[in-house]
Amino acid sequence: MRSLPTTPGPSCCGSGVLINDKFKRVLQNWLHVVTAVFIGGLLCWGIIRTFQSGLLSRLSIEADHTDLSPTLDEKLAGSSVDLPGLSSETPDNGNVFYEKAGFKLHVNTSYRLRPRISDWDDQRRRWLSKNPHKKGIVTGKSPLFLVSSSQPSPCENPMGDHFLLKAIKNKMDYCRLHGIDIFYNMAQLDPAMVSFWVKLPLVRAAMVAHPEAEWIWWMDSDALFTDMAFELPLDKYSNYNMVVHGWERKVFEEKSWVGLNMGVFLIRNCQWSLDLLDAWAAMGATGPLKLQIGKFLTSFLSERPENFEADDQGALIYLLNAEKERWRSKVYLESSYYLHGFWVKLVDKYEEMRRKYHPGYGDDRWPFVTHFVGCELCSGDTNTKYSAEKCRKNVEKAFNLADDQILKIYGFHHQSLQSSDVLYL
Ligand SMILES: *[C@@H]1O[C@H](CO)[C@@H](O)[C@H](O)[C@H]1NC(C)=O
Repeated sequence: MRSLPTTPGPSCCGSGVLINDKFKRVLQNWLHVVTAVFIGGLLCWGIIRTFQSGLLSRLSIEADHTDLSPTLDEKLAGSSVDLPGLSSETPDNGNVFYEKAGFKLHVNTSYRLRPRISDWDDQRRRWLSKNPHKKGIVTGKSPLFLVSSSQPSPCENPMGDHFLLKAIKNKMDYCRLHGIDIFYNMAQLDPAMVSFWVKLPLVRAAMVAHPEAEWIWWMDSDALFTDMAFELPLDKYSNYNMVVHGWERKVFEEKSWVGLNMGVFLIRNCQWSLDLLDAWAAMGATGPLKLQIGKFLTSFLSERPENFEADDQGALIYLLNAEKERWRSKVYLESSYYLHGFWVKLVDKYEEMRRKYHPGYGDDRWPFVTHFVGCELCSGDTNTKYSAEKCRKNVEKAFNLADDQILKIYGFHHQSLQSSDVLYL
């Protein structure tokens, strides 16, 4: 267990060194100097330890979660910052979060998303006034621009690439029906942003490349549209810059890691979003800090696995809690329909749903999106909770549910949700 990152050492020991200098000049006795420094150091150390253990017991929290090893601290000298909201001078009575005051969460500020832009709102306004015709021609009728991606190499799971093909076909169908422009990326854009973090540089690149798009809409490759008729209620979000599926209570009271889901979200094309991406990416850059930040997030959040490196979802929940004014006020947590819908809770209900309702609701009656979280369909990761067979069958059902809504236009339907065979309507 390491201590709190307080630094009373230098002021205390500094005077000791001065006194020793006098000894040196007067007595020229090196042995005395060494002894004096040693005893002085011991005394200082004792005082610091006492001070720290007092603080620790008052805060009653574990110190090793957030602290960095001295070597890492040294390496980072000049490049680490306190995340706002965590500094000790901002106590907030009764708030669990601020009880962690005094802990420094170091983020990797030497890492930067590119390109650096600080006046995007002005740039974009100028661009829009010069290119009004581009609106509409480029994007059809939609202010949305959908972005998704998968790895540059073939999937490790032999069925994975076939699944990805179905998933991209599903997204093309939805976007085609609703006049939404789509970009599917398979290139590694930034070597420091891997795994869950790939979406950050990609979303940023899409914003800058598509000033005509008001909203960038991220969707994981393993999320399928299951309601082809539902449209996002964009008017509802006019005062917000980001829309994520989630619940206020879980994110801000329980500080639950699963209080929101990063698999599908909307982010407005504006400077606020570029700033959020910067603050967010500083927690995810590949490097030794990523594990330290992961530990911090596990100590800060409930329901987050131990020994899990920093992830985008945990980092966003942290930021929303840490800087409420700046971030939380502009983020809309949506739960009135399935912007993201967890497959385990939905797929078994499809048949009943089809008997009772029709597409267009997006909610429990007919989920907008079914997201195969934990199936690892491309990597075929064997450590997942769900069997490959169960995942495969459920994906097939979700795909067919959506595909029936498309085939209907052409006069066909699937024999059943489990079958790829089709019949005339
Ligand atoms: C910070 O990010 C850079 C990538 O830009 C990485 O090379 C470096 O190791 C990171 N530093 C730490 C301490 O994690």
